[in-house]
Amino acid sequence: MTPWPSLTSKTILEMTEKPFSDSAERNAAPILEVLRHEFSDCTAVLEIGSGTGQHAARFSRSLPHLRWQTSDLDENHSGIHAWVEDAALENLLTPLSLDVMTADVRAKAYDGVYSSNTAHIMSFDGVTRMFELVGKALVDAGVFCLYGPFRQNGNFNTASNAAFDEGLRARHPDMGIRELESLDDLGGDNGLVRVRLYAMPANNHLAVWRKKGK
Ligand SMILES: C[S@@+](CC[C@H](N)C(=O)[O-])C[C@H]1O[C@@H](n2cnc3c(N)ncnc32)[C@H](O)[C@@H]1O
Repeated sequence: MTPWPSLTSKTILEMTEKPFSDSAERNAAPILEVLRHEFSDCTAVLEIGSGTGQHAARFSRSLPHLRWQTSDLDENHSGIHAWVEDAALENLLTPLSLDVMTADVRAKAYDGVYSSNTAHIMSFDGVTRMFELVGKALVDAGVFCLYGPFRQNGNFNTASNAAFDEGLRARHPDMGIRELESLDDLGGDNGLVRVRLYAMPANNHLAVWRKKGK
């Protein structure tokens, strides 16, 4: 007798091939509410650092007016492919191979860029490069939404974020929670002006920059 007589082969495939992140599951609903507003006039979104692919599947299903382009380092592609294939949505695209340190993007190919929990994982050079890519990839008046923990005016917003930063730096000295003001400077270098900052659950924020023009 099989231990799970009711499981179909598709369910077993999902369990074995789709990576799952608890935090991505928890933060998806509040992020979606912001993206619903910020991407309401967009048609083509590039996601940088899609991770498991969970956000891409959830957001592209809920925002069918968007063509959602996933991307990440190659090592995460098999998981993202599993989510994309399982979602079977016309507006959800298989991942581009995109390491911010080496990748280039087509100029003005997107009117939205989304990235979540990436800026504290990449080195600051990586974050610098990400803003260069975003500035190039966006059309005039395009929108960049970046979710994660940030420092402001030199301060952590909570002791838990300070401890998280310490843990990141112990893992690798190039990692760490970024100053929002430094990100604004990188935005300025690439034609992006911050237009909003949303306080999100669990001491995170979602920052929105808009590309100048029109
Ligand atoms: C903490 S995970 C977040 C994943 C997903 N966005 C989420 O919120 O669940 C950090 C992501 O940044 C990606 N990443 C790290 N360095 C990168 C780089 N140089 N270029 C592109 N992505 C990178 C990782 O591969 C990973 O998917």
